[in-house]
Amino acid sequence: MQTGHLGEHTRSVRAGERLDRAVGGVTTPIHTAAAYMAADDVEGAYRYPRYMNIPTQAAPAEKLAALEGAGAGLVLASGMAAISSSLLAVLTTGDHVVLQADLYGGTHRFLMAELARLGIGFALVPQADPARLEAAVTECTRAVFVETPSNPLLRLIDLEGVAAMARRRGLVSMVDNTFASPINQRPLDLGFDLSIHSGTKYLNGHSDLNCGAVAGSKAHIDAVRERAINFGQTLNTYDCYLLERGMKTLAMRMARHNENAQAVAEFLTRRRGVAAVHFPGLPDHPGHALAKRQMRGFGGMLSFELDCPPEAARAFMGRLELILEAVSLGGIESLACFPAVTSHAKMSREARLAIGVTDTLVRLSVGCEDAADIIADLGQAMDAAAIA
Ligand SMILES: Cc1ncc(COP(=O)(O)O)c(C=O)c1O
Repeated sequence: MQTGHLGEHTRSVRAGERLDRAVGGVTTPIHTAAAYMAADDVEGAYRYPRYMNIPTQAAPAEKLAALEGAGAGLVLASGMAAISSSLLAVLTTGDHVVLQADLYGGTHRFLMAELARLGIGFALVPQADPARLEAAVTECTRAVFVETPSNPLLRLIDLEGVAAMARRRGLVSMVDNTFASPINQRPLDLGFDLSIHSGTKYLNGHSDLNCGAVAGSKAHIDAVRERAINFGQTLNTYDCYLLERGMKTLAMRMARHNENAQAVAEFLTRRRGVAAVHFPGLPDHPGHALAKRQMRGFGGMLSFELDCPPEAARAFMGRLELILEAVSLGGIESLACFPAVTSHAKMSREARLAIGVTDTLVRLSVGCEDAADIIADLGQAMDAAAIA
């Protein structure tokens, strides 16, 4: 079914589906076979799960492409599979990549542990903007990689500006679009080559699946697929089924996440004992004007700084009742964590503080519950921890 002209809720529900015509089922079946008889509709004639040419695998990939406005999509075994295959689709020994410094910790680790071993150079640019990223480009640079909004301080980077710089300098541009989701941000419309996701988060949306995804032109995705096939980063068909099912409600969930996070952020700005709230939907957020330009919703992620000693912050976390203390994000249930001891635990204390990740910074993935209940839980936990 052609879905390009349809609305994003319709595309979430229907794009990419491979209906079960044999029995009239209205969902994409899970194809369990790992061996297939020759078929003339498949390039190379044979289907094989690792080659990602099974219909159950094609369905969520095509749904993502439809939502990102991309020529092609690909679903993989994890967000890190999507990030590593995308980088290695472009970079080889002797090449160089420019990235923003405040990246997801796993991406940072991949650079340190893997790119260095492969003889691939990289520059991490603090306070990244298009000009600072361009200043780090060398004659060996082949790609630029950014993440916006960033984890955990929700900093924004000008995607149109970075894409224009990349085109001018002949670089492949990649963005980790996990925090925004394709409903809130479509980087390819702004000139980016690859939009990358930890599908574990909003795409699946139910905190019960580890997966990744990439969208881009067919040529770019073919190059990523080649790396992913060789490194065996395929997503199995059972998980593809779950991902496609989760994505059917993506547009609906994101509308709710956006609305709830705005209400929670506004509550936190008014609440005593909160020193700062980081959420792009707040008018005083440094990226608010940019967010209004390049995002269609401000998302469900926020972080806030408690004005109290670390022990009181710990007590606050322990007194939450509805909100669960957990890492990860993007599910329908609200989750809170301290980035200092989770996503950024591997950084030195000095490096962490330098990028603004203090011991009392709380990251909140605002779920799809009633906003009033989330707000009440935050308020009672702060009261119980005597944060005022
Ligand atoms: C922004 C971002 N990108 C990528 C990843 C990696 O995803 P995964 O854990 O699915 O490999 C994460 C995981 O937390 C993330 O938050």
